Amino acid sequence: MKKSNVLVTASGGIVAQGIIKCLKLSNKQKKSSTNYKIIAADVNAKAPGLYRADIGILVPPVTDTHYLDFIIKTCVAKKIDAIFIGSDEELVPLTMAKREIENKTGTIVISNPIDVVLKSGDKWKTYEFLKKNGLPCADSSLPQDQDEFLKEHKFPIVVKPREGHGSLHFYLVNNTKELDNAENSIRNSGWRPLLQEYLDGKDSEFTTGVTVSNDGKVMSSISMKKTLKSGQTYKAFIDNYKDIRKSAEQVTLKIGARGAINIQAKMAKGKPKIFEINARFSATTPLRAVAGINEPDIVFRNMILGEKINMKEYKRLVCMRYWNEVYIPYSTYKKTERDKKTERSNSFIPDYF
Ligand SMILES: Nc1ncnc2c1ncn2[C@@H]1O[C@H](COP(=O)(O)OP(=O)(O)O)[C@@H](O)[C@H]1O
Ligand SMILES: [Mg+2]
Repeated sequence: MKKSNVLVTASGGIVAQGIIKCLKLSNKQKKSSTNYKIIAADVNAKAPGLYRADIGILVPPVTDTHYLDFIIKTCVAKKIDAIFIGSDEELVPLTMAKREIENKTGTIVISNPIDVVLKSGDKWKTYEFLKKNGLPCADSSLPQDQDEFLKEHKFPIVVKPREGHGSLHFYLVNNTKELDNAENSIRNSGWRPLLQEYLDGKDSEFTTGVTVSNDGKVMSSISMKKTLKSGQTYKAFIDNYKDIRKSAEQVTLKIGARGAINIQAKMAKGKPKIFEINARFSATTPLRAVAGINEPDIVFRNMILGEKINMKEYKRLVCMRYWNEVYIPYSTYKKTERDKKTERSNSFIPDYF
């Protein structure tokens, strides 16, 4: 079987760990056309992904001037075929450097076109895009137009940062005082506030993963209804949800996505209203792989191996998330800190639940 070397960045985070789970699942299932050797990166020796991959390497932070050089050197030294981006912080810098990395190393950065990344990374731009194209979305406003907005929408109103993630600084406000406070606390954290109509209804939130081929065709789409805890999917019902998927596929094609994209919506009066787009693998990617849609494998095989893929079927499943632990001996930790790398580490996850 073919062997492929992949770099997964930010392996201390939930997105990267999801990608690693998918790649390892693919290796185990042996249904893919390639076997993945996983090189996991992180800035910190406490990142669990380092020890669950074939090789773990410590890298400088993305804000460091040596970051890109380091990634380029790693791609050459480890003969990396593709980079999976594991954190929001690296999404724009690595997408911007896609050409340079490919030219210098031959490594493909798996990412959406930069305009798609920028549009989805800013919830106001996402709203403008959806609105302009007549796509169903949560009505939104910038603070300077809030008087108009408040005439059309009654409290409670959602206030959240344009550039936020993981539900950080998400506020549901009931009056103008609370609105001011929410806006101020978002500004104090260096972000820009956005007002949004509150999409009511418990049990009506959906997330849909769509993959698009390099020639612009939908390869897969999979939806789940979910509830969240601390900004992450906690309970998920993976099912058909035809209308939700159709709406997400439409948005995906309109925005011009390539690779993996994630559309978040809530049902309002029987219609899905979109409130967020993430132009990257979602934190729920491993759940989809277990249901039969392994997005990292699908995208890799299309973008790097040039395969044509069309996967429409998946299993209906209920997923209940829980905490788990990974252990390493103290000596492994010390050695990783010192050598800035670890290979086939002796980490373990006890089978105790
Ligand atoms: N307009 C809205 N109406 C109701 N709930 C919302 C709305 N916007 C966001 N939420 C809730 O807050 C969560 C986080 O908001 P989201 O826009 O997805 O930002 P992020 O995930 O980047 O923090 C969503 O998953 C959803 O549960
Ligand atoms: Mg979200």
